[in-house]
Amino acid sequence: MTDSYTRLVNTGITKTLAKKLGLPRPAVLRRHRPGDPLTVGPVLVLSDAASKADADRVAQALLAWELDVRRDPVELRADPGRLGAVVLVLTELARPQDASEAVLAAGSVLRKLAPHGRVVTLSRARTEQDSPELAAARQGVDAFCRSLAKELRAGATGNGVVLTDGAAAGSTSALAALRFFLSARSAYVDGQLLEVGPTDAALPTSWDRPLEGQVAAVTGAARGIGAAIARTLARDGATVVCVDVPAAGEGLARTANAVRGTALQLDVTAPDAGTRLLEHARARHGRLDVVVHNAGITRDKLLANMDAARWDSVVAVNLASQLRINAQLLEAAERGEVSGLRVVSLASTSGLAGNRGQTNYAFTKAGVVGHTAATGPLLARHGGTANAVAPGFIETDMTRAIPFATREAARRLSSLLQGGQPVDVAEAIAFLASPAAAGVNGQTLRVCGQNMVGR
Ligand code: NAI
Repeated sequence: MTDSYTRLVNTGITKTLAKKLGLPRPAVLRRHRPGDPLTVGPVLVLSDAASKADADRVAQALLAWELDVRRDPVELRADPGRLGAVVLVLTELARPQDASEAVLAAGSVLRKLAPHGRVVTLSRARTEQDSPELAAARQGVDAFCRSLAKELRAGATGNGVVLTDGAAAGSTSALAALRFFLSARSAYVDGQLLEVGPTDAALPTSWDRPLEGQVAAVTGAARGIGAAIARTLARDGATVVCVDVPAAGEGLARTANAVRGTALQLDVTAPDAGTRLLEHARARHGRLDVVVHNAGITRDKLLANMDAARWDSVVAVNLASQLRINAQLLEAAERGEVSGLRVVSLASTSGLAGNRGQTNYAFTKAGVVGHTAATGPLLARHGGTANAVAPGFIETDMTRAIPFATREAARRLSSLLQGGQPVDVAEAIAFLASPAAAGVNGQTLRVCGQNMVGR
């Protein structure tokens, strides 16, 4: 559900009043519905001179997705219609001064960008071998993209795909990431740059059901974000094992029935949780392809008032359980019982920026970012990946418990001027779990509407 302020400033007489008073008006975001067009209008592909061949490859891919692709900003300015997206290809940018023509061309069409439009940059990551000039040009794209995202309005977003390890602009995961950022699936992802490496994986045969034939386990699936993840993975074609504690049995059964999956009553802190999860998935569904570590708790207290029960329980549920389950899954991969496993874990922007009263929670969520970076290469040996998502303020039971004033400030302090919905987190997880995202590994993707808090 959209929050009441967003509803008020987008309907009837209160909309007119809000306009007159110049109040901030968060847009009702466009979210993915199977069958809807990928973008809300034509896509303009721009590049600096050196990146033109890459821009041609990207334009070809967009044409294959049946998008209306334009290349000429001057012609487009004369067109009375609105623009759905701008893709800015800067992959071969060698010197900072070579960016100006392309970025200014992008700027010249921004006023034509439709509500819910998209700007996506495609660039290369800095490497240790780069000359100072090359490193400056490549790093420049990072905060250019984040700044541009802060200038967009009406539900439009700006994000970037950053190629690493010599990945090609037209490679599977680069295109899959580009498509995710262009689509309504990334409604609440804003101002983010995602690193993408090379992969042998193929693009999906159906973009509406990229997880067809896969078996996914989601912990903490009885309610909130976990239930949304289960629904979204099932919508994308996966068979879902829904996991939660016995005390949440009712909600767990509800989610499992809704997604036509199976329910597994399991406390993730159990010493053999990973083994039991794998055994259940293999016995009931024959395999396990995706594990989403979503179960999490908060026990907020200032550190001066923190007791061992609060600290230790948060560490046990949010972090130690994930480490133990991953270790058991890695052992199973060594034995050949699973391969190509995709692990996606829930971090939090609190784990990036820190949050007063949450030293325990932030410690565990930063720990998730850390173990994800270290687990990625270990799983890659068996064809798998480990990634994390860091939600900002998401409208759930967890955040409904926050005092009103703090809650309201947390919502509005983002470029999209609102909290996200559980489905926004779920869409990012579904993308990272999809086979075409095989080149994304060890990353943490923020789903926070470009919350002003943190890096
Ligand atoms: P929630 O409290 O609504 O749901 C958490 C679920 O995890 C519950 O169903 C609960 O029974 C289950 N769970 C708790 N301990 C468990 C255990 N030991 N074993 C198995 N299941 C267990 O939480 P919400 O808001 O849906 O959050 C989900 C995840 O997203 C958590 O990891 C949370 O830290 C993270 N997150 C949430 C944000 C938000 O704004 N709601 C922001 C950033 C991160």
